[in-house]
Amino acid sequence: MTAPSNAIQSTLVENRVFPPSDATVAAARVAGMAGYEALCAEAENDYEGFWARLARENVVWNKPFTQTLDQSDAPFFKWFQDGELNASANCLDKHIGTPTENKTAIIFEADGGEVTKVTYKELLAKVSQFANVLKSKGVQKGDRVVLYMPMTIEGVIAMQACARIGATHSVVFGGFSSKALHERIQDAGAVAVVTANYQMRGGKELPLKSIVDEALAMGGCDSAKSVIVFQRTPTAVNMVAGRDTFMHEEMAAQSTECAPEFVGAEHPLFVLYTSGSTGKPKGVQHSTGGYLLWAKLTMDWTFDLKDSDVFWCTADIGWITGHSYVAYGPLAAGATQIIFEGVPTFPKADRFWTMIEKHKCTIFYTAPTAIRSLIKAADSDASVHPDRSDLSSLRILGSVGEPINPEAWMWYYKNVGGERCPIVDTFWQTETGGHMITPLPGATPLVPGSCTLPLPGITTAIVDETGQDVPNGSGGILVVKKPWPSMIRTIWGDPERFKKSYFPEELKGYYLAGDGAVRSEDRGYFRITGRIDDVLNVSGHRMGTMEIESALVAKSDIVAEAAVVGRPDDLTGEAIVAFVVLKGPVPTGDDAKALANELRNWVGKEIGPIAKPKEIRFGENLPKTRSGKIMRRLLRGIAKGETLTQDTSTLENPHILEQLARTN
Ligand code: WTA
Repeated sequence: MTAPSNAIQSTLVENRVFPPSDATVAAARVAGMAGYEALCAEAENDYEGFWARLARENVVWNKPFTQTLDQSDAPFFKWFQDGELNASANCLDKHIGTPTENKTAIIFEADGGEVTKVTYKELLAKVSQFANVLKSKGVQKGDRVVLYMPMTIEGVIAMQACARIGATHSVVFGGFSSKALHERIQDAGAVAVVTANYQMRGGKELPLKSIVDEALAMGGCDSAKSVIVFQRTPTAVNMVAGRDTFMHEEMAAQSTECAPEFVGAEHPLFVLYTSGSTGKPKGVQHSTGGYLLWAKLTMDWTFDLKDSDVFWCTADIGWITGHSYVAYGPLAAGATQIIFEGVPTFPKADRFWTMIEKHKCTIFYTAPTAIRSLIKAADSDASVHPDRSDLSSLRILGSVGEPINPEAWMWYYKNVGGERCPIVDTFWQTETGGHMITPLPGATPLVPGSCTLPLPGITTAIVDETGQDVPNGSGGILVVKKPWPSMIRTIWGDPERFKKSYFPEELKGYYLAGDGAVRSEDRGYFRITGRIDDVLNVSGHRMGTMEIESALVAKSDIVAEAAVVGRPDDLTGEAIVAFVVLKGPVPTGDDAKALANELRNWVGKEIGPIAKPKEIRFGENLPKTRSGKIMRRLLRGIAKGETLTQDTSTLENPHILEQLARTN
């Protein structure tokens, strides 16, 4: 029995429940909770049989698999191992000879507003041509290719072309610095880099090619023999003879046909670097078969995709969301999708709304940070409010990347979705390959701020430090109990780190997500409470605190020590706050401001602008225990502006706290 006070509490917290309309349920692929529960029961009764059925129905296999799951080398799980397929053939060739071949695959809208469309047939021809270009450069099955590309059709072409020839791509987000790019090219041992001369964002031309030049000039990238440059703007860039060529010239010389290279289901489709709790980014390695299955299936389940839909995921291809829900999922599902090069606030903060109206978008998937910034913009300028656009084409909304606060959820629901569109709040990670916990639009009653229930076959649970289940209502550690097809396979080149990071011994072989969560007492709905490791989530971008600390101390002429923590932020979810000890005296006033600025720019150059601390505070030391451990808990309190009421008796140097709390 639940204590009465708890019951009252939970009604207060969860009094707004939004069930799907009868019409939505009737038309949905997974219809009602009965439909959802039937799939869950199928998975529970015969886990492997469930996945095998779905893999046969949703993936085109060149050679069928005979074994579904191989657990003999856990946690290095293998799915559909003896099956053979090609990811690009599953996204493109599959549609040839069907009515989808002449359907628009991509509606591309450039930063400046120009629109380009390609059909599935046209996209296949371009992907094949570029696959032939890669082959002509000597790129072979199993080789790694780094892509440093803007959000363009060409970005997707490059990814698909790699998949077509069995090369493993590693996309590096176009906002990362030359140093971050260098690190990734080196770690992946890339044989080629595909980039663009420039990218356009918010009316500005931003360099990409010169950053590739800088990265390659840092040395140790001898494996990278060719650089292929997409000419996005007319501006000339330096081209290195014998190494650099233009994408359009190379493609013009190639055939529009290229037979797909069939690979084993476990063949690495891509490696995508993400932040972890140590300084070095992790190369998350994904498979071909299991990954593709989930990218396709979650399009059908989570987004209830219909042939007539116009799908728009606003994520960049440099992140996992842009992999699964731009480059692979929509194409494997035969959708028409919008790809947008620019930013939501250019030329005005109504860009998303006007684009939804213009392209008759039906499913819109974006991040809470974007929503929060557009709420702010609409509050101060009524001319950019979504009510100025005709958003009646929309039928489903999605949210991804960070928790969505109930207020932002309600605004999105009312002002964008017209109180008619279910919001799917999708919880997942780079490592999970696709959605894990999310409502289904034609089934799950929605509760603002909750990602609700795991998808069928996904065994998420909340446990304590020893792996014991905790009761609903108690917070704990989010785990996944059983392996699933689209899970991370390893960390590129570092299997030990993979095991240690995701399958710590005390958790009984469960996958450790790195997030805290709690389930509601009434419905058992999941709510993600945030990372439990040293990873920050700033505007939905993952940043390791250690990564930023390493960048700061790398400025070794002035910085002695640094500690980085997160602080809640209304707009970006979390903001980065750095506490810095200088080699010289503690600066004050304008000196402090100038130094803080210098360090922010330094971090921007070392990692990328997204990693710049919002605030830097200087002190003569950091709060440490007597054994020398930095007390981050206290720093988090100071960053939030909390008064120091915690016990500081174990501190070596308590007066430091006052100093850090004072400086601004
Ligand atoms: C967070 C992005 C709450 C979480 C797909 C996770 C979320 C990290 C949600 C992964 C959500 C993602 N609600 N938190 N709906 N989606 N997160 O690897 O902390 O860039 O661990 O993958 O984002 O970030 P990543």
